[in-house]
Amino acid sequence: MDRAGKPDGMVVTIVGSQLGDEGKGGIVDRWSESADVVVRYQGGDNAGHTVVNDNQEYKLSLVPSGAVRGKVGVLGNGCVINPETLLSELDALRERGLDPDLKVARRAHVIFPYHRELDGIEERAKEGKQLDAGTTGRGIGPTYEDKAGRRGIRIGDLLDSEVLRGRLEYVVPQKRALAESVFGVETGDAFDVDRLYEDYRGYGERLREEGMTVNTGAYLEDEREAGKEILFEGAQGTVLDIDHGNYPFVTSSNPTAGAAAVGTGLGPAVVGEGAIVGVVKAYLSRVGTGPLPTELGGVEGQTPGYEANGGDADDDTEDEETLATEIREAGGEYGTVTGRPRRVGWLDLPMLRHAARVSSLSGLAINHVDTLAALETVRVCERYDLAGEALEAIPASTERWSRCEPVYREFEGWPDADWERVAEEGYEALPENARAYVEYVSNEVEVPIDAIGVGPGREQTIVLDDPFSRSE
Ligand code: GDP
Ligand code: IMO
Ligand code: MG
Repeated sequence: MDRAGKPDGMVVTIVGSQLGDEGKGGIVDRWSESADVVVRYQGGDNAGHTVVNDNQEYKLSLVPSGAVRGKVGVLGNGCVINPETLLSELDALRERGLDPDLKVARRAHVIFPYHRELDGIEERAKEGKQLDAGTTGRGIGPTYEDKAGRRGIRIGDLLDSEVLRGRLEYVVPQKRALAESVFGVETGDAFDVDRLYEDYRGYGERLREEGMTVNTGAYLEDEREAGKEILFEGAQGTVLDIDHGNYPFVTSSNPTAGAAAVGTGLGPAVVGEGAIVGVVKAYLSRVGTGPLPTELGGVEGQTPGYEANGGDADDDTEDEETLATEIREAGGEYGTVTGRPRRVGWLDLPMLRHAARVSSLSGLAINHVDTLAALETVRVCERYDLAGEALEAIPASTERWSRCEPVYREFEGWPDADWERVAEEGYEALPENARAYVEYVSNEVEVPIDAIGVGPGREQTIVLDDPFSRSE
Protein backbone atom coordinates (compact mmCIF):
# COMPACT_ATOMS: atom_id res chain seq x y z
CA MET A 1 0.00 0.00 0.00
CA ASP A 2 1.32 3.49 -0.74
CA ARG A 3 1.20 6.42 1.68
CA ALA A 4 -2.17 7.54 0.42
CA GLY A 5 -3.57 4.10 1.30
CA LYS A 6 -4.05 3.02 -2.31
CA PRO A 7 -3.83 -0.79 -2.60
CA ASP A 8 -0.85 -2.27 -4.46
CA GLY A 9 -1.46 -3.72 -7.90
CA MET A 10 -1.90 -7.46 -8.26
CA VAL A 11 0.71 -9.76 -9.69
CA VAL A 12 -0.21 -12.78 -11.84
CA THR A 13 2.38 -15.30 -13.04
CA ILE A 14 1.91 -17.46 -16.13
CA VAL A 15 4.18 -20.51 -16.47
CA GLY A 16 4.53 -23.38 -18.91
CA SER A 17 3.62 -26.67 -17.21
CA GLN A 18 5.13 -29.03 -19.76
CA LEU A 19 7.78 -28.64 -22.46
CA GLY A 20 7.13 -25.16 -23.81
CA ASP A 21 4.68 -24.10 -26.53
CA GLU A 22 1.67 -24.73 -24.31
CA GLY A 23 0.06 -21.54 -25.60
CA LYS A 24 1.44 -19.13 -22.98
CA GLY A 25 1.42 -16.21 -25.46
CA GLY A 26 -2.32 -16.56 -26.04
CA ILE A 27 -3.11 -16.77 -22.33
CA VAL A 28 -0.87 -13.80 -21.55
CA ASP A 29 -2.61 -11.84 -24.31
CA ARG A 30 -6.01 -12.73 -22.91
CA TRP A 31 -5.19 -11.67 -19.37
CA SER A 32 -3.02 -8.72 -20.24
CA GLU A 33 -6.30 -6.94 -20.96
CA SER A 34 -6.42 -6.31 -17.19
CA ALA A 35 -2.67 -5.79 -16.76
CA ASP A 36 -0.60 -2.63 -17.06
CA VAL A 37 2.86 -4.15 -17.28
CA VAL A 38 3.88 -7.52 -18.78
CA VAL A 39 7.27 -8.88 -17.70
CA ARG A 40 9.53 -11.67 -18.97
CA TYR A 41 11.71 -13.02 -16.15
CA GLN A 42 13.92 -15.65 -17.85
CA GLY A 43 15.05 -17.00 -21.19
CA GLY A 44 15.61 -14.99 -24.32
CA ASP A 45 14.84 -15.25 -28.01
CA ASN A 46 14.60 -19.03 -27.74
CA ALA A 47 10.94 -18.35 -26.90
CA GLY A 48 8.29 -18.09 -29.59
CA HIS A 49 4.98 -16.85 -28.22
CA THR A 50 1.98 -16.55 -30.52
CA VAL A 51 -0.78 -14.00 -30.17
CA VAL A 52 -3.72 -14.12 -32.54
CA ASN A 53 -5.87 -11.02 -32.62
CA ASP A 54 -8.51 -10.01 -35.20
CA ASN A 55 -7.06 -12.48 -37.70
CA GLN A 56 -3.55 -11.08 -37.26
CA GLU A 57 -0.89 -13.40 -35.93
CA TYR A 58 2.13 -12.16 -33.98
CA LYS A 59 5.06 -14.43 -33.13
CA LEU A 60 7.07 -12.85 -30.36
CA SER A 61 10.49 -13.96 -29.22
CA LEU A 62 11.60 -11.30 -26.78
CA VAL A 63 9.01 -8.56 -26.66
CA PRO A 64 6.44 -9.55 -24.00
CA SER A 65 3.07 -10.60 -25.44
CA GLY A 66 1.27 -7.65 -23.80
CA ALA A 67 2.74 -5.45 -26.56
CA VAL A 68 -0.10 -6.48 -28.87
CA ARG A 69 -2.54 -4.74 -26.49
CA GLY A 70 -0.20 -1.76 -26.06
CA LYS A 71 0.88 -2.70 -22.53
CA VAL A 72 4.29 -1.76 -21.14
CA GLY A 73 6.75 -4.63 -21.58
CA VAL A 74 9.72 -5.38 -19.34
CA LEU A 75 12.61 -7.80 -19.87
CA GLY A 76 13.76 -8.65 -16.36
CA ASN A 77 17.26 -9.23 -15.03
CA GLY A 78 16.80 -13.01 -15.39
CA CYS A 79 16.58 -12.73 -19.18
CA VAL A 80 19.40 -13.03 -21.67
CA ILE A 81 19.09 -10.48 -24.43
CA ASN A 82 20.36 -10.38 -27.97
CA PRO A 83 20.15 -6.64 -28.73
CA GLU A 84 20.24 -7.28 -32.46
CA THR A 85 17.16 -9.53 -32.47
CA LEU A 86 15.47 -7.31 -29.88
CA LEU A 87 15.81 -4.16 -31.95
CA SER A 88 14.80 -5.90 -35.17
CA GLU A 89 11.74 -7.39 -33.44
CA LEU A 90 10.78 -3.93 -32.23
CA ASP A 91 11.24 -2.49 -35.72
CA ALA A 92 9.12 -5.27 -37.24
CA LEU A 93 6.32 -4.65 -34.72
CA ARG A 94 6.45 -0.91 -35.43
CA GLU A 95 6.13 -1.63 -39.13
CA ARG A 96 2.97 -3.55 -38.31
CA GLY A 97 1.54 -0.51 -36.55
CA LEU A 98 2.29 -1.35 -32.92
CA ASP A 99 4.24 0.99 -30.70
CA PRO A 100 5.82 -1.21 -28.04
CA ASP A 101 6.87 0.54 -24.85
CA LEU A 102 9.71 -1.71 -23.72
CA LYS A 103 12.05 -1.54 -20.73
CA VAL A 104 15.13 -3.71 -20.41
CA ALA A 105 16.89 -4.61 -17.16
CA ARG A 106 20.38 -3.17 -16.80
CA ARG A 107 21.21 -6.38 -14.95
CA ALA A 108 20.14 -8.67 -17.81
CA HIS A 109 22.95 -10.46 -19.62
CA VAL A 110 23.79 -9.83 -23.27
CA ILE A 111 23.94 -12.56 -25.90
CA PHE A 112 26.90 -11.93 -28.22
CA PRO A 113 27.53 -13.51 -31.64
CA TYR A 114 30.20 -15.78 -30.10
CA HIS A 115 27.54 -17.22 -27.79
CA ARG A 116 25.41 -18.18 -30.75
CA GLU A 117 28.34 -19.75 -32.55
CA LEU A 118 29.45 -21.67 -29.46
CA ASP A 119 25.89 -22.92 -28.98
CA GLY A 120 26.04 -24.59 -32.40
CA ILE A 121 29.62 -25.78 -31.97
CA GLU A 122 28.90 -27.52 -28.68
CA GLU A 123 25.63 -29.04 -29.89
CA ARG A 124 27.49 -30.61 -32.80
CA ALA A 125 30.17 -31.92 -30.45
CA LYS A 126 27.50 -33.48 -28.21
CA GLU A 127 25.52 -35.06 -31.03
CA GLY A 128 27.45 -38.31 -31.27
CA LYS A 129 27.16 -38.80 -27.51
CA GLN A 130 23.40 -38.22 -27.48
CA LEU A 131 23.89 -35.28 -25.15
CA ASP A 132 22.65 -32.56 -27.50
CA ALA A 133 19.43 -30.90 -26.38
CA GLY A 134 18.44 -29.80 -29.88
CA THR A 135 18.78 -26.16 -28.84
CA THR A 136 17.28 -23.26 -30.73
CA GLY A 137 20.84 -22.12 -31.53
CA ARG A 138 20.22 -18.69 -30.04
CA GLY A 139 23.24 -18.74 -27.71
CA ILE A 140 21.13 -19.13 -24.58
CA GLY A 141 23.25 -21.77 -22.81
CA PRO A 142 26.66 -20.16 -23.43
CA THR A 143 25.33 -16.79 -22.20
CA TYR A 144 23.98 -18.21 -18.94
CA GLU A 145 27.28 -20.08 -18.58
CA ASP A 146 29.17 -16.79 -18.71
CA LYS A 147 26.72 -15.24 -16.25
CA ALA A 148 27.40 -18.03 -13.74
CA GLY A 149 31.13 -17.86 -14.52
CA ARG A 150 31.11 -14.14 -13.64
CA ARG A 151 32.51 -13.21 -17.02
CA GLY A 152 29.22 -12.16 -18.63
CA ILE A 153 28.47 -8.71 -20.00
CA ARG A 154 25.26 -7.03 -18.90
CA ILE A 155 22.96 -4.57 -20.64
CA GLY A 156 24.20 -1.85 -18.27
CA ASP A 157 27.77 -2.51 -19.46
CA LEU A 158 26.79 -1.63 -23.04
CA LEU A 159 26.12 1.91 -21.84
CA ASP A 160 29.69 2.44 -20.60
CA SER A 161 32.17 2.09 -23.44
CA GLU A 162 35.21 1.70 -21.20
CA VAL A 163 33.64 -1.11 -19.21
CA LEU A 164 32.42 -2.77 -22.41
CA ARG A 165 35.87 -2.66 -23.99
CA GLY A 166 37.56 -4.06 -20.87
CA ARG A 167 35.08 -6.93 -20.54
CA LEU A 168 35.36 -7.88 -24.21
CA GLU A 169 39.14 -7.80 -24.05
CA TYR A 170 39.02 -10.24 -21.16
CA VAL A 171 36.44 -12.67 -22.44
CA VAL A 172 36.71 -12.81 -26.25
CA PRO A 173 40.25 -14.30 -26.44
CA GLN A 174 39.06 -17.08 -24.10
CA LYS A 175 36.10 -17.81 -26.34
CA ARG A 176 38.30 -17.79 -29.41
CA ALA A 177 40.69 -20.23 -27.79
CA LEU A 178 37.79 -22.45 -26.77
CA ALA A 179 36.38 -22.56 -30.30
CA GLU A 180 39.74 -23.03 -32.00
CA SER A 181 41.77 -25.14 -29.60
CA VAL A 182 39.12 -27.25 -27.87
CA PHE A 183 36.61 -27.66 -30.69
CA GLY A 184 38.98 -27.11 -33.64
CA VAL A 185 36.71 -24.60 -35.35
CA GLU A 186 37.92 -21.56 -37.26
CA THR A 187 36.63 -18.26 -35.92
CA GLY A 188 35.70 -15.02 -37.66
CA ASP A 189 33.98 -11.70 -36.91
CA ALA A 190 31.94 -13.17 -34.07
CA PHE A 191 35.17 -13.40 -32.07
CA ASP A 192 36.70 -10.05 -33.08
CA VAL A 193 36.96 -7.61 -30.16
CA ASP A 194 37.05 -4.41 -32.26
CA ARG A 195 34.09 -5.43 -34.35
CA LEU A 196 32.05 -6.51 -31.32
CA TYR A 197 32.95 -3.35 -29.44
CA GLU A 198 31.75 -1.07 -32.26
CA ASP A 199 28.50 -2.96 -32.85
CA TYR A 200 27.54 -3.40 -29.21
CA ARG A 201 28.47 0.14 -28.18
CA GLY A 202 26.05 1.17 -30.95
CA TYR A 203 23.28 -1.02 -29.49
CA GLY A 204 23.98 0.50 -26.07
CA GLU A 205 23.59 3.97 -27.54
CA ARG A 206 20.30 3.07 -29.13
CA LEU A 207 18.96 1.59 -25.87
CA ARG A 208 20.01 4.76 -24.06
CA GLU A 209 18.53 7.10 -26.69
CA GLU A 210 15.23 5.27 -26.50
CA GLY A 211 15.33 5.41 -22.67
CA MET A 212 14.82 1.66 -22.49
CA THR A 213 17.10 0.56 -19.65
CA VAL A 214 15.83 0.29 -16.07
CA ASN A 215 16.52 -1.21 -12.68
CA THR A 216 13.61 -3.65 -12.98
CA GLY A 217 13.03 -4.45 -9.30
CA ALA A 218 12.79 -0.79 -8.32
CA TYR A 219 10.74 0.08 -11.41
CA LEU A 220 8.24 -2.74 -10.82
CA GLU A 221 7.91 -1.96 -7.14
CA ASP A 222 7.04 1.66 -7.96
CA GLU A 223 4.50 0.53 -10.51
CA ARG A 224 2.94 -1.91 -8.06
CA GLU A 225 2.72 0.73 -5.36
CA ALA A 226 1.02 3.00 -7.84
CA GLY A 227 -1.66 0.31 -8.17
CA LYS A 228 -0.53 -1.05 -11.53
CA GLU A 229 -1.36 -4.69 -12.31
CA ILE A 230 1.62 -6.81 -13.29
CA LEU A 231 1.70 -9.99 -15.37
CA PHE A 232 4.77 -12.22 -15.38
CA GLU A 233 5.15 -14.08 -18.68
CA GLY A 234 7.12 -17.31 -18.28
CA ALA A 235 8.89 -18.75 -21.29
CA GLN A 236 9.73 -22.43 -21.99
CA GLY A 237 8.21 -24.91 -19.51
CA THR A 238 8.71 -26.92 -16.31
CA VAL A 239 10.42 -29.94 -17.92
CA LEU A 240 12.85 -27.58 -19.66
CA ASP A 241 13.84 -26.03 -16.30
CA ILE A 242 17.55 -26.39 -15.61
CA ASP A 243 16.86 -27.61 -12.05
CA HIS A 244 13.43 -29.19 -12.23
CA GLY A 245 13.45 -30.40 -15.82
CA ASN A 246 14.98 -33.44 -17.45
CA TYR A 247 18.61 -32.39 -17.34
CA PRO A 248 20.61 -32.20 -19.60
CA PHE A 249 17.80 -31.94 -22.20
CA VAL A 250 16.75 -28.58 -20.82
CA THR A 251 17.22 -24.89 -21.37
CA SER A 252 19.66 -22.96 -19.18
CA SER A 253 17.21 -20.95 -17.07
CA ASN A 254 14.39 -21.59 -14.59
CA PRO A 255 11.02 -21.22 -16.33
CA THR A 256 9.23 -22.22 -13.08
CA ALA A 257 7.49 -19.66 -10.88
CA GLY A 258 10.28 -19.23 -8.30
CA ALA A 259 12.33 -17.52 -10.97
CA ALA A 260 9.68 -14.83 -11.40
CA ALA A 261 11.01 -13.34 -8.16
CA VAL A 262 14.73 -13.81 -8.82
CA GLY A 263 14.41 -12.75 -12.45
CA THR A 264 12.63 -9.45 -11.79
CA GLY A 265 13.75 -8.15 -8.41
CA LEU A 266 10.36 -8.44 -6.71
CA GLY A 267 10.31 -10.82 -3.76
CA PRO A 268 8.85 -14.34 -3.59
CA ALA A 269 6.06 -13.16 -1.27
CA VAL A 270 4.87 -10.80 -4.01
CA VAL A 271 4.76 -13.63 -6.54
CA GLY A 272 3.12 -16.03 -4.09
CA GLU A 273 0.48 -13.52 -3.06
CA GLY A 274 -0.88 -13.47 -6.61
CA ALA A 275 -2.25 -16.17 -8.85
CA ILE A 276 0.19 -18.59 -10.54
CA VAL A 277 -1.38 -20.13 -13.61
CA GLY A 278 0.13 -23.18 -15.26
CA VAL A 279 -0.54 -23.36 -18.99
CA VAL A 280 -1.21 -26.92 -20.11
CA LYS A 281 -1.56 -28.32 -23.60
CA ALA A 282 -4.32 -30.98 -23.64
CA TYR A 283 -1.67 -33.37 -25.01
CA LEU A 284 2.14 -32.97 -25.17
CA SER A 285 4.56 -31.50 -27.63
CA ARG A 286 8.30 -31.25 -27.53
CA VAL A 287 10.86 -29.66 -29.85
CA GLY A 288 14.28 -31.06 -29.25
CA THR A 289 15.72 -34.25 -27.85
CA GLY A 290 15.28 -36.05 -24.52
CA PRO A 291 12.86 -38.71 -23.30
CA LEU A 292 9.10 -38.41 -23.64
CA PRO A 293 7.36 -41.49 -22.21
CA THR A 294 3.97 -40.80 -23.80
CA GLU A 295 5.35 -39.95 -27.24
CA LEU A 296 3.33 -41.05 -30.26
CA GLY A 297 5.47 -42.10 -33.20
CA GLY A 298 8.68 -40.11 -33.44
CA VAL A 299 10.54 -37.38 -35.27
CA GLU A 300 13.87 -37.89 -37.00
CA GLY A 301 16.75 -36.13 -35.31
CA GLN A 302 14.78 -35.51 -32.11
CA THR A 303 13.25 -38.73 -30.76
CA PRO A 304 15.96 -40.71 -28.94
CA GLY A 305 16.81 -43.90 -30.80
CA TYR A 306 14.57 -43.06 -33.77
CA GLU A 307 17.31 -43.53 -36.35
CA ALA A 308 18.70 -46.58 -34.57
CA ASN A 309 15.28 -48.20 -35.03
CA GLY A 310 15.38 -47.15 -38.66
CA GLY A 311 12.28 -45.04 -37.89
CA ASP A 312 10.77 -48.50 -37.91
CA ALA A 313 7.21 -49.15 -36.95
CA ASP A 314 5.38 -52.34 -36.02
CA ASP A 315 1.59 -52.41 -36.46
CA ASP A 316 0.98 -50.55 -33.24
CA THR A 317 3.48 -47.82 -33.83
CA GLU A 318 2.22 -47.34 -37.36
CA ASP A 319 -1.14 -46.39 -35.85
CA GLU A 320 0.68 -44.15 -33.46
CA GLU A 321 2.55 -42.46 -36.32
CA THR A 322 -0.77 -41.76 -38.03
CA LEU A 323 -2.25 -40.39 -34.82
CA ALA A 324 0.84 -38.26 -34.23
CA THR A 325 0.59 -36.82 -37.73
CA GLU A 326 -3.10 -36.07 -37.24
CA ILE A 327 -2.48 -34.25 -33.96
CA ARG A 328 0.60 -32.44 -35.34
CA GLU A 329 -1.36 -31.16 -38.33
CA ALA A 330 -4.50 -30.29 -36.36
CA GLY A 331 -2.47 -28.42 -33.73
CA GLY A 332 -0.01 -26.76 -36.14
CA GLU A 333 2.81 -28.40 -34.19
CA TYR A 334 5.82 -26.89 -35.91
CA GLY A 335 8.36 -24.82 -33.91
CA THR A 336 7.65 -21.09 -33.79
CA VAL A 337 11.36 -20.25 -33.67
CA THR A 338 12.94 -23.01 -35.75
CA GLY A 339 10.06 -24.42 -37.83
CA ARG A 340 10.98 -27.97 -36.72
CA PRO A 341 8.13 -30.51 -36.52
CA ARG A 342 7.29 -30.97 -32.85
CA ARG A 343 7.17 -34.38 -31.25
CA VAL A 344 3.72 -35.15 -29.85
CA GLY A 345 2.37 -37.43 -27.13
CA TRP A 346 -0.48 -38.00 -24.73
CA LEU A 347 -1.00 -35.80 -21.70
CA ASP A 348 1.23 -36.84 -18.83
CA LEU A 349 -0.18 -36.39 -15.30
CA PRO A 350 3.06 -37.24 -13.43
CA MET A 351 4.54 -34.26 -15.31
CA LEU A 352 1.68 -32.00 -14.30
CA ARG A 353 1.79 -33.06 -10.63
CA HIS A 354 5.48 -32.15 -10.65
CA ALA A 355 4.75 -28.78 -12.30
CA ALA A 356 1.97 -27.99 -9.82
CA ARG A 357 4.28 -28.56 -6.86
CA VAL A 358 7.36 -26.81 -8.23
CA SER A 359 5.47 -23.65 -9.19
CA SER A 360 2.70 -23.67 -6.51
CA LEU A 361 0.14 -23.51 -9.29
CA SER A 362 -3.11 -21.89 -8.22
CA GLY A 363 -4.86 -22.51 -11.52
CA LEU A 364 -4.63 -24.30 -14.85
CA ALA A 365 -5.22 -22.94 -18.34
CA ILE A 366 -5.84 -26.01 -20.51
CA ASN A 367 -5.32 -25.24 -24.20
CA HIS A 368 -5.87 -27.11 -27.46
CA VAL A 369 -9.00 -28.96 -26.34
CA ASP A 370 -10.25 -28.35 -29.91
CA THR A 371 -7.16 -30.02 -31.41
CA LEU A 372 -8.06 -33.40 -29.89
CA ALA A 373 -11.64 -33.25 -31.22
CA ALA A 374 -12.81 -36.04 -33.50
CA LEU A 375 -10.41 -38.64 -32.08
CA GLU A 376 -12.19 -41.83 -31.16
CA THR A 377 -10.25 -42.27 -27.95
CA VAL A 378 -8.12 -39.87 -25.94
CA ARG A 379 -5.55 -41.26 -23.54
CA VAL A 380 -3.97 -39.77 -20.44
CA CYS A 381 -0.97 -41.15 -18.62
CA GLU A 382 -2.15 -41.29 -15.01
CA ARG A 383 1.02 -42.73 -13.54
CA TYR A 384 4.24 -44.47 -14.54
CA ASP A 385 5.37 -48.02 -14.11
CA LEU A 386 9.10 -48.18 -13.48
CA ALA A 387 10.13 -51.84 -13.28
CA GLY A 388 7.04 -52.68 -11.26
CA GLU A 389 7.10 -49.54 -9.11
CA ALA A 390 4.17 -47.11 -9.50
CA LEU A 391 5.24 -43.46 -9.75
CA GLU A 392 2.82 -40.55 -9.43
CA ALA A 393 5.33 -37.86 -10.39
CA ILE A 394 8.39 -37.50 -12.60
CA PRO A 395 11.51 -39.11 -11.08
CA ALA A 396 14.50 -36.84 -10.50
CA SER A 397 16.83 -38.86 -12.69
CA THR A 398 16.41 -38.45 -16.44
CA GLU A 399 17.69 -41.95 -17.03
CA ARG A 400 14.96 -43.34 -14.75
CA TRP A 401 12.40 -41.15 -16.47
CA SER A 402 13.41 -42.56 -19.86
CA ARG A 403 12.59 -46.06 -18.55
CA CYS A 404 9.14 -45.12 -17.26
CA GLU A 405 6.23 -46.88 -18.94
CA PRO A 406 3.03 -44.86 -19.02
CA VAL A 407 -0.08 -46.35 -17.47
CA TYR A 408 -2.97 -44.94 -19.44
CA ARG A 409 -6.60 -44.13 -18.73
CA GLU A 410 -8.79 -43.92 -21.80
CA PHE A 411 -11.49 -41.36 -22.45
CA GLU A 412 -14.10 -41.37 -25.15
CA GLY A 413 -13.31 -38.64 -27.65
CA TRP A 414 -15.48 -35.62 -28.30
CA PRO A 415 -16.86 -34.35 -31.58
CA ASP A 416 -15.56 -31.36 -33.48
CA ALA A 417 -17.62 -28.29 -32.75
CA ASP A 418 -18.17 -24.67 -33.65
CA TRP A 419 -15.47 -23.55 -31.24
CA GLU A 420 -16.22 -19.85 -31.67
CA ARG A 421 -19.72 -20.53 -30.43
CA VAL A 422 -18.47 -22.77 -27.61
CA ALA A 423 -16.09 -20.04 -26.48
CA GLU A 424 -18.88 -17.48 -26.58
CA GLU A 425 -21.37 -19.62 -24.68
CA GLY A 426 -18.89 -20.80 -22.08
CA TYR A 427 -17.98 -23.91 -20.19
CA GLU A 428 -21.36 -25.64 -20.40
CA ALA A 429 -21.19 -25.52 -24.21
CA LEU A 430 -18.02 -27.63 -24.20
CA PRO A 431 -18.81 -31.21 -25.37
CA GLU A 432 -19.59 -33.42 -22.38
CA ASN A 433 -16.65 -35.78 -22.98
CA ALA A 434 -14.24 -32.85 -23.16
CA ARG A 435 -15.57 -31.60 -19.83
CA ALA A 436 -15.08 -35.06 -18.31
CA TYR A 437 -11.49 -35.02 -19.59
CA VAL A 438 -10.48 -31.59 -18.24
CA GLU A 439 -12.26 -32.16 -14.92
CA TYR A 440 -10.41 -35.44 -14.47
CA VAL A 441 -7.09 -33.68 -15.13
CA SER A 442 -7.86 -30.89 -12.70
CA ASN A 443 -8.93 -33.36 -9.98
CA GLU A 444 -5.85 -35.50 -10.41
CA VAL A 445 -3.49 -32.52 -10.31
CA GLU A 446 -5.54 -30.92 -7.52
CA VAL A 447 -5.52 -27.52 -9.18
CA PRO A 448 -8.69 -25.75 -10.38
CA ILE A 449 -9.22 -24.72 -13.99
CA ASP A 450 -8.99 -21.01 -14.73
CA ALA A 451 -9.29 -21.20 -18.51
CA ILE A 452 -9.82 -23.56 -21.43
CA GLY A 453 -8.44 -22.86 -24.90
CA VAL A 454 -10.56 -24.04 -27.82
CA GLY A 455 -8.69 -22.25 -30.58
CA PRO A 456 -5.77 -19.90 -31.19
CA GLY A 457 -7.81 -16.69 -31.28
CA ARG A 458 -8.15 -14.17 -28.48
CA GLU A 459 -11.86 -14.90 -28.15
CA GLN A 460 -11.35 -18.67 -28.22
CA THR A 461 -10.57 -19.04 -24.54
CA ILE A 462 -13.26 -19.93 -22.04
CA VAL A 463 -12.43 -18.09 -18.83
CA LEU A 464 -13.72 -19.77 -15.68
CA ASP A 465 -11.81 -17.62 -13.22
CA ASP A 466 -9.95 -14.44 -14.13
CA PRO A 467 -6.88 -14.30 -11.86
CA PHE A 468 -6.87 -10.50 -11.84
CA SER A 469 -10.38 -10.24 -10.46
CA ARG A 470 -10.00 -13.00 -7.88
CA SER A 471 -9.57 -10.96 -4.72
CA GLU A 472 -11.82 -8.07 -5.71
P1 GDP B 1 3.91 -20.57 -26.31
O1 GDP B 1 5.35 -20.69 -26.65
O2 GDP B 1 3.55 -21.28 -25.04
O3 GDP B 1 3.42 -19.14 -26.28
O4 GDP B 1 3.12 -21.31 -27.48
P2 GDP B 1 3.40 -21.19 -29.07
O5 GDP B 1 2.91 -19.87 -29.53
O6 GDP B 1 4.80 -21.54 -29.39
O7 GDP B 1 2.54 -22.38 -29.62
C1 GDP B 1 1.19 -22.48 -29.39
C2 GDP B 1 0.45 -22.57 -30.73
O8 GDP B 1 -0.85 -23.04 -30.50
C3 GDP B 1 0.27 -21.21 -31.39
O9 GDP B 1 0.22 -21.39 -32.78
C4 GDP B 1 -1.08 -20.75 -30.85
O10 GDP B 1 -1.72 -19.81 -31.67
C5 GDP B 1 -1.82 -22.05 -30.81
N1 GDP B 1 -2.84 -22.17 -29.75
C6 GDP B 1 -2.81 -21.70 -28.49
N2 GDP B 1 -3.91 -22.11 -27.80
C7 GDP B 1 -4.63 -22.87 -28.65
C8 GDP B 1 -5.86 -23.61 -28.54
O11 GDP B 1 -6.51 -23.65 -27.50
N3 GDP B 1 -6.27 -24.28 -29.66
C9 GDP B 1 -5.57 -24.26 -30.84
N4 GDP B 1 -6.03 -24.95 -31.86
N5 GDP B 1 -4.41 -23.58 -30.97
C10 GDP B 1 -3.95 -22.90 -29.89
P1 IMO C 1 8.50 -21.18 -25.56
O1 IMO C 1 8.67 -20.01 -24.64
C1 IMO C 1 9.74 -25.22 -26.68
C2 IMO C 1 13.97 -26.22 -26.06
C3 IMO C 1 14.84 -26.46 -27.28
C4 IMO C 1 15.86 -27.44 -26.71
C5 IMO C 1 16.05 -26.94 -25.28
C6 IMO C 1 17.27 -26.05 -25.09
O2 IMO C 1 8.09 -20.81 -26.93
O3 IMO C 1 7.62 -22.20 -24.92
P2 IMO C 1 17.84 -23.54 -25.77
O4 IMO C 1 17.89 -22.89 -27.11
O5 IMO C 1 16.88 -22.90 -24.82
O6 IMO C 1 19.19 -23.72 -25.16
O7 IMO C 1 17.28 -25.03 -26.08
O8 IMO C 1 14.87 -26.22 -24.96
N1 IMO C 1 13.25 -24.92 -26.04
C7 IMO C 1 11.93 -24.78 -26.23
N2 IMO C 1 11.00 -25.68 -26.56
N3 IMO C 1 9.38 -23.94 -26.44
C8 IMO C 1 10.30 -23.02 -26.08
O9 IMO C 1 9.98 -21.76 -25.71
C9 IMO C 1 11.66 -23.41 -26.00
N4 IMO C 1 12.82 -22.78 -25.71
C10 IMO C 1 13.78 -23.71 -25.72
O10 IMO C 1 14.11 -27.00 -28.34
O11 IMO C 1 15.31 -28.73 -26.62
MG1 MG D 1 6.56 -21.26 -28.23
